[in-house]
Amino acid sequence: MSSTDATPETGTSDDVLIIHGGTPLEGEVTVRGAKNLVSKAMVAALLGTSPSVLRSVPAIRDVEVVTGLLRVHGVDVELDGDTLYMDPTSVESAGVEEINVHAGTSRIPILLCGPLLHRLGRAFIPDLGGCNIGGRPIDFHLDALRKFGAVVDKDADGTHLSAPNGLHGIRYELEFPSVGATEQVLLTAVMAKGTTELRNAAIEPEIIDLICILQKMGAIIKVHTNRVIEIVGVDELKGYRHRALPDRIEAASWASAALATEGSVFVRGAQQTDMMTFLNVFRSIGGAYEVDDDPTEGGIRFWHPGTALKPVAIETDVHPGLMTDWQQPLVVALTQADGLSIMHETVYENRFGYTSELRRMGANIELYSDCLGGTPCRWGRRNFLHSAVIAGPSKLHAADLQIPDLRAGFSHLIAAMAAEGTSRVYGVDRYITRGYENFEAKLLGLGAKIERPSTKIA
Ligand code: EPZ
Repeated sequence: MSSTDATPETGTSDDVLIIHGGTPLEGEVTVRGAKNLVSKAMVAALLGTSPSVLRSVPAIRDVEVVTGLLRVHGVDVELDGDTLYMDPTSVESAGVEEINVHAGTSRIPILLCGPLLHRLGRAFIPDLGGCNIGGRPIDFHLDALRKFGAVVDKDADGTHLSAPNGLHGIRYELEFPSVGATEQVLLTAVMAKGTTELRNAAIEPEIIDLICILQKMGAIIKVHTNRVIEIVGVDELKGYRHRALPDRIEAASWASAALATEGSVFVRGAQQTDMMTFLNVFRSIGGAYEVDDDPTEGGIRFWHPGTALKPVAIETDVHPGLMTDWQQPLVVALTQADGLSIMHETVYENRFGYTSELRRMGANIELYSDCLGGTPCRWGRRNFLHSAVIAGPSKLHAADLQIPDLRAGFSHLIAAMAAEGTSRVYGVDRYITRGYENFEAKLLGLGAKIERPSTKIA
């Protein structure tokens, strides 16, 4: 199964946001449920024999994609405000053509394997999409599924799976604590016969939230120390009621935007516990924040204190390290720090492509294949440009920008808002709407001077 990652097109289309930069972002935004939990929670609903209810669901395209995938498999999905009702009582097989409508749109379809094998005895998975940030193989997923007892056949249409002898618990160790492969094992093991022991598992907060959902459904899952998860298979799971944990990637994106534009943004819904590593980095750079932990109205206010920002040497890592998805917005903020910063990307081999556009805007960023962080990683030996040195502060100037992927796209928006002059950012509908709910309304609410080609700013 190959990843059909989208190729950016330079465009003259309407998919462009015009940004008049140089205005500090000031005000408040609300973040809802995490994209990287909500989509998986929707897949988990397939395992239930009764309906599930998921609250705090953001209006983003990845939710639409998974809704489409569930519906073609006979799940009744209804959205009321930000509450999603999913009734899987009439799950049925879907045709290759109707599933393939969703080919190339997201990475989530691979997670339907276990639930569909349990419910229907077979599954068809279209070619995957997702951001173009590295090879993004799915070898761990397929290897684990085969060990569970699945038969995997790839053909020109996509991947067909069956489980002629049912699925059985396994002892499995991941080569790398992959988020998706951990979720694959969880969603398959909960109803496999016997016990599964997963070693070197990912333990991101979104995974722990997925475990909470599965536990509500009737699963038996023990999270041991040292990345070991033990799952005792059960015969039946019921539906769940759950409020998705808030999106800590979106929260950090707004925090970085506040810092880069010398503004102040209250991110309602942001939670300190899931963002501890980010908050340490934010403070080390010289950013200020204040946590309001009211359970319903709380959040975190992030602001630029008016003093020079400081350079840092940091590296991305799996949880509890610095999230790779926080890297791009932080790099934009680091272009404004006074001195040399280092960012060592250890999760993906190719996640600095967006920096060429930042360089065109006046940022001073050099890429290296050496591991410039404290930890030698697997990309250094393989010659990938995965370390960045950022020399600041740089005066950013406006440019026409082509978004290459979701998080890089948001960092381009931040750079355009921090820059003097008028930038045109292409690809916002195609990429940003995948993971940022109502981002244009939020930007306008924060005082950003933005417009579409056909509209005039007030
Ligand atoms: C999830 O991707 C997220 N996506 C990503 O967010 C996030 O960056 C990533 O986890 C890491 O936190 C979703 O949840 C939908 P991985 P995932 O498996 O699960 C290698 C965003 O912008 N690997 O943890 O696909 C892989 O190549 C997105 O919201 C294998 O080698 O990530 C990578 O180097 C982007 N073989 C590393 O593991 C495999 O079979 C981590 O990937 C699987 C992964």
